[in-house]
This record gives sequence, C-alpha cells and structure tokens, in this order.
Amino acid sequence: MTDQLTPNAIGRDVARADGPLKVLGAAPYAYDQPLTDPLYLCTVDATVVRGRVTAVDASAALAMDGVELVLTHENAPELSTEDGELRVLQSPEVHFRGQVVAAVVATTTEVAAAAAGAVVVTYDTEPFSVTAGSDPAALHAPEKVNAGYPTDTDDGDLDAAVAAAAFTVDEEYTTARTHNNPLEPHTTVATWTGGDLHVFEASQSVFGARRVLAGVFGLDPERVRVTCPYVGGGFGSKGSPHAGAVVTVMAARMLPGRSVKFALTRRQMFRLVGYRPRMTQRVRLAAAPDGTLTGVGVDVVQESARIKEYAEQTAVAARMMYAAPNRRTSHRLALLDIPVPTWMRAPGEAPGMFALETAIDELAARVGIDPIALRVRNEPDRDPATGKPFSSRHLVDCLHEGADRFGWYDRDPRPRSRRVNGWLVGYGVAASTYPAYRIPGNSAVVRYTADDRYRVEIGASDLGTGAWTALAQIAADALGVPQESIDLAIGDTRLPRASVAGGSSGTASWGTTIVEAARAFRGKFGQAPEPDDEVLADAPENTAAEDFALHGYGAQFAEVRVHEDTGEIRVPRLYGMFDAGRVINPRTARSQLVGGMTMGLSMALHEDSVMDTALGHTANPDLAEYHIAANADVHDVRADWLGIPDERLNPMGSKGIGEIGITGTAAAIANAAHHATGVRVRELPITLDRFLR
Ligand code: MOS
Repeated sequence: MTDQLTPNAIGRDVARADGPLKVLGAAPYAYDQPLTDPLYLCTVDATVVRGRVTAVDASAALAMDGVELVLTHENAPELSTEDGELRVLQSPEVHFRGQVVAAVVATTTEVAAAAAGAVVVTYDTEPFSVTAGSDPAALHAPEKVNAGYPTDTDDGDLDAAVAAAAFTVDEEYTTARTHNNPLEPHTTVATWTGGDLHVFEASQSVFGARRVLAGVFGLDPERVRVTCPYVGGGFGSKGSPHAGAVVTVMAARMLPGRSVKFALTRRQMFRLVGYRPRMTQRVRLAAAPDGTLTGVGVDVVQESARIKEYAEQTAVAARMMYAAPNRRTSHRLALLDIPVPTWMRAPGEAPGMFALETAIDELAARVGIDPIALRVRNEPDRDPATGKPFSSRHLVDCLHEGADRFGWYDRDPRPRSRRVNGWLVGYGVAASTYPAYRIPGNSAVVRYTADDRYRVEIGASDLGTGAWTALAQIAADALGVPQESIDLAIGDTRLPRASVAGGSSGTASWGTTIVEAARAFRGKFGQAPEPDDEVLADAPENTAAEDFALHGYGAQFAEVRVHEDTGEIRVPRLYGMFDAGRVINPRTARSQLVGGMTMGLSMALHEDSVMDTALGHTANPDLAEYHIAANADVHDVRADWLGIPDERLNPMGSKGIGEIGITGTAAAIANAAHHATGVRVRELPITLDRFLR
C-alpha cells in the first residue's frame, strides 16, 4: 500500500489550465517560438524505394535568392549512431520511398520548398519488397518485443488442448497499417550557440529527445536543452525524435547562431514519424463444453522495416487476460523496404485485443453462451502470465455494470434478429486492458515562492491530454493547498528529470514524484515556509511492480447498424466502463477515454494505409483519402469508470487512461456487426462490401 493522498482538488471536474491560452492561439507550441531571423528547412525525399543516390545536382537550388544551405550525404556532418532511422544523410543508400536524401535551408518556407524542388537527385535502383509474403522461412524472430516482453511463450501443451477441446476457434485476424496523425505535425526548431544546442521539439518527452539527440550528435546531454511546453497530440509518434529532428539539428549545426525550423507536411507524416504496422494474428482457443478455456494461442506476423526493427507486443495481452492452462504466443517479423514503424496508442493491446476479443466472441457463439458470461467464467484469480496476484482487477465489475448501463440484456442473442427501417441492428461487447506502468527515475522540485504560492517543477510533457491541469491538482492535494496556489512548470530539460508521456504512465510517474517532493517539503519546512524554501526529491521505488501484476481494465459495448441493401455501417452508440483506479480529473479523463474509443472506432471502420506495391509507398497519404473518424462518423460515445482506487499503485490510487480506451473497441464493433448481420469480419477496417452478398 502507498500512503494515499486525501482527495480534494483530485477528483474535481476542473477545466484545463491551458484551455484559454489554446483557445486564444497564444499557447506557444514548438514551432511557434519567437526567434530572430529564423531559417526554414525543406527536405528532398527519395522517389525510389531501394537503391542508392548516384548524384545530387544542387546548383539550381543554390543559385536561388535566400538559399543558405543544401545538405546532402556528401556534405552532412558525421553522426554517432547506428540507428537506421536516425542515420540521416550518412550514406547514399535508399531504404524506403520518401527517405530524406537532401535538405534545403532558406530564408522563407516558400524559397526552401522551391529550392528543394530544384534539387536533382539521380538513383540506381534495386528490387524491393513492401508486403509480407507467405514464406515462413522469410520471417524473423525479434530478440524481444516492444516494452521488453519476451518474443515467445509456451506454457502447457496448446496443441493437445486444441485436439482434446469440445469447442475450438482457429482463425486469422488482420489489422491495417495505421498512422498516428496528431493535429500538430512533428516540428523541430534548432539553434546552436557555441557548442550548445537548444531544440524546440514537438515531443512527448523532452528528456528522451535530449538523450537521443545528444547521442546522435555525440554531445554531453548537459549541453543540449529541449523545450516543449505544449504538444498537439502524438499518440506515441512523438515519443522519440525521428529523422526530421535529426536533419534539422544537423542543418542548424552548419549554420551556427541561426535558428532552423522544420515542420513536416501531412504527407511526410505518413513515412517519417512511424506508424502502427500491418499484422496478421492466428488465434487459437480451446474450450471445455461449458466454455471454460483450456488453451489460448496467438501467433503474430507483423511487417517491419529492414533498417530498424520494431516488434509490437501484440500477443502480450493474450498472455494475461484469461485463465487457461495451455498458452502459447509468438511474434515474427517480415522485414521490408518500408518506413520504420513505431508506437501508436496502445501498441500491442490495440491490435492484440481486436483479435483476442473477436475470437472470444466467436467462441461464445460456438459454445452458445453469452459473451459476458464466457469472459466471467474464464476470469483468472492470478495473472496467468507471471503467476503474481493482481494489484486490482475489476474486469467482471466493468462487464456487469457496463452491461446494465448499456442495456446489453435487451438483445436477442441470435444474429440478424433485429431490423429497424432497413437497418440490421446488433450489439457487441469486448474487454479492454492496458498495463499500469510507472516509470522510475523522475525528480521534482517544490518551492515556496511567496504569498501562499508554490512552484512545482518537473520536466513532464502535456500531449494535450491534461497534464498541466492534473499535475496541479495532485500537487495541491500533496501540499494541502488550493489548486490556485500551484504554479506548475513542465516541458523543459532545465526542469527536474521526467519520463515520457507514453505508455499511459505520465500521471502515475510524475504525480508520484510530485507527491514525494511535496511530502519532503512539508517534512523539512512544515506548514509555514519562507520564500525560496525548496526541496528536490526523487520518485520512490515502484515496489508494487515486483509483487503484483498491474493493469487497468474495461468493458466496451457497441451498437452497430448495417444497412441491409447497401452494407453501410454505422455506430450509433459506444459505451465503455473502465477500471481506471481513482480518476484525477473527470473532465480530462473522459476526454481521453472517449478519444481512445473514437480512435478505436476509426481503427474498426476507416483507417487503412493502402500499400501501392508497384510504387512501394502508401497510396493515400493525406487526410482526404486516409479517412479518420470525423464528426459524422461519431455518434453517442460515452465513458464511465468504477472509481475504485488501487492503493498499491501510487499515492493517487490512479491507473493510466491514455491508451485503454482504444483497446477492445474495434472488437466490440466487429462483434456487434456480426450480431447485426451474421457476417464475421476478421480484417480491419470493416468496410461495407463485407456485408453485401
Ligand atoms: Mo503511447 S503509444 O505510449 O504514446
């Protein structure tokens, strides 16, 4: 147990601290920083998939008025990294279409763009492959998968369990390549002064960006400052710098004293900042006559880039969701000539829970029991993956409470049983889960300034999710003062060290650190401090992680309507009930959960990065043709929570909420579509042609 805070500011429906600034357009994002005579960078991107640059003719570009620099592999500074994504302009080799092969810096964006267009690059090309083939021998087993999980697991005897089972499922589920696409594109502004580097970077982690950039440029991290007070979303793609940041810092290094600015175009966002890779999962379930699971198997084949391995932890959720003595999982990669994938909201759980939770629905239909009852029947009493007890696990409560509030039991379980005005109507359910991470190594400062005001400093990042607000609420309760007394400072490596706004770990990691610092402050200075009294404190150890399995849970419900004649699919209702511990701020929490569910809807019905196999790139790299759920697609989306604090996790009793909303949503929609129509769709996105016969 941790020593819990007494909630006062915590739990209040407080409006965003940064709301007025954002509404007024006055919140300075990375690209908006006022600078003297900045220069603008524009990249030249490869027009071949694989091969090498044989010549770069920059003469026309260099002759243009306002062009300060053309950067190519021939004049680029040497970098000290082996990272295949970050080794920008280190060789003439081309590894994917759209790779940065040159960059122009000029006095205006218009001149930079025109000059970049005037750089003539010639190539030798080689044959390429951009889609996973069917040859298992061509697949590669990564050493580990993302977040450090083992690649494969094998407990008991899955094959024997399947052979002996009364009911089985053995199906393949495919999820599309999807792109993060935050509203704010990735941007970098870099200035070198002497040997010191200052970067404004659209980032989920100023300290992570500093570590990466210091490494790439062979610098002492102390000589690198990264600043980012506001972020316009990221979903994981801003978790670590990409090639655009490196080339901008490189260009600025060649123009000492000048600030170089770079903002990616939306089209570049489809190839230079990572994305969720396409994958196929074979799911095998084995069950006794009453639906008790005896075996769970998931084998993942995922696309990845030849130049940098990224292995999503797709099967990890299946290792811990349900009690089954025989469990086997594996992850394999097809290494291709494609851009480097990365984290995208709930990497692993989002695609993994689509496959697992659709398969569970298929099993329920085969056994002939309610899908909620099937899940409850297979609820484990300890974590099947580690054998540890759960710190808390209220999945069954989420399913029951959510079912009541959604009106689940109104449904006739038979598919195609309800028609309204030519629309087939169905209900679907799926479970959600996401780990409750807390990242170590954070520090925070609490300082009494004067007049009952406290300054709280931590180099955290607000992705747009509400950290400016939630951390002030936590600080207020930790110090026992009103929230109005807190002056929060985040988003700069000049502040105490903080971990990434990622893995749904931010509030837990930073909040715990702030509480520690506040308690140390009160311990040292009591209730009547003097101006400038301050403490710097490090986060306490996360001892709960050694003894317990730490996760959040949820139950997702969907109502789907499919038009009998046209196959058109609509989602009039999504309802999620979550086990998210104590909620710090209901307003920002609801926004994250509803946002995650909406992104799950988008994953289920819309988002599909179509690979043009002849040209070797995404054929629809813009927001006109890559459709993301928009207002007309989103109807009644609601999120609620049980509100049961988990006192083992942190002093707030909170669980992360950034990612759990997207997990399970696509399965709930696919399951509802099946209930509506009798058609089982195992490949995302679910498009209307699936329902036409
Ligand atoms: Mo999230 S994919 O951990 O930013």
